[in-house]
Amino acid sequence: MSDRFLSGPVLGIETSCDETAVAVVAGGRVLTNRVSTQIPIHQRFGGVVPEIASRNHLLTILPTIERALADTGLRGPDLAGIAVTHNPGLMGALLVGVQTAKTLAHAWAVPLLGVHHIEAHCWAVMMAPPELPASSTDWPQPSLPCLALAVSGGHTSLYRVTAPGESELLGATLDDAAGEALDKFGKLLGLPYPAGPHVDVAAQRGDRTRYALPRGLRNRTDLAMSFSGVKTAGRLAIEAARTAGVDLNEDQELAHLCASYQDAVVTQLVRTTLRAARKYDLKDIIIAGGVAANSQLRADLSAACAAEGRRAWPTPLPYCTDNGAMIAGLGSSLFAVGRQDDPFLLDAAPTKRPSLSVRKQQRDDARRPKRSSS
Ligand code: KG4
Ligand code: ZN
Repeated sequence: MSDRFLSGPVLGIETSCDETAVAVVAGGRVLTNRVSTQIPIHQRFGGVVPEIASRNHLLTILPTIERALADTGLRGPDLAGIAVTHNPGLMGALLVGVQTAKTLAHAWAVPLLGVHHIEAHCWAVMMAPPELPASSTDWPQPSLPCLALAVSGGHTSLYRVTAPGESELLGATLDDAAGEALDKFGKLLGLPYPAGPHVDVAAQRGDRTRYALPRGLRNRTDLAMSFSGVKTAGRLAIEAARTAGVDLNEDQELAHLCASYQDAVVTQLVRTTLRAARKYDLKDIIIAGGVAANSQLRADLSAACAAEGRRAWPTPLPYCTDNGAMIAGLGSSLFAVGRQDDPFLLDAAPTKRPSLSVRKQQRDDARRPKRSSS
């Protein structure tokens, strides 16, 4: 086991968006990872409907916890702690997880901790990979401090991670998240919600040079990103193709569009991440969040890191999209250093706005004496 984690079993609860997810982690190993997804429920609306999400979390949270405990043969009071996502996310959805965790922690008399969803995404790679043989007691992990690219449906940010639950925001998108840009583009092409994974699959059969699309902010040397330009250009490319009589139901053309669009999004992510790694001299780079499941991002960022003598750490696929294991994992590391919340005081917290912090960071950067950067 890794000494970054508590040896006892920690229950993780995640309800920030459209997955009701519960896992148990002990000593950095995932004992069970149950995800009850609401994707089929929201699919007909083309996106998550917050009130429907909260109501479904209410229906599934207790059965999912019961299943996870049954998987491990543990009873509630046997747990070493309960960790729950309390920030950021949809308010009603978060409340279901937080209230459940507070109630169970009190009833079972076990320690409680609220964790940050994005910090948990970034920490997931520290846990034992799912394929690790049961006989192995150790596994490779990124060294700290390291860089983390957190890229999901609602976030696209770069952090300098120094310890569990401690990270400094280095840069972020000024507008859309990369996942949102992929989802909206796929939706215009008629792909099901969430479209990101469908764009990924279609792109593997396409030519990424077929459509020329913008690759982020030009002439910028800071760590700000933007996906609104590529989103507009993608929409215009679809409209132009339709006007020209191109049949987008024809599989090959759809594949070319997806490949070109995904390439534009991934190229910007890779370039900005490497710029951050050079600027802050960070060797280990974590790729985290739902979009970390993207095959091109994993491959391109890993290759770009290797070319500069850096190490990329793509999160194992089962822990990329929202899951309880990452919550239990970060919770386990925080419990191990003595962190704990009062079950009567923990609350769901409103969404942070990272773009504001980035603007502040840019102002600070402008005031600082210039360092060499690329
Ligand atoms: O982390 P996550 O499950 O939820 C949020 O915290 O937002 O990320 C969901 C996002 C969605 O935008 C989804 O389309 C995207 O992750 N995603 C992918 C892939 N798998 C999930 N995007 C591109 N390629 C994938 N393979
Ligand atoms: Zn997420």
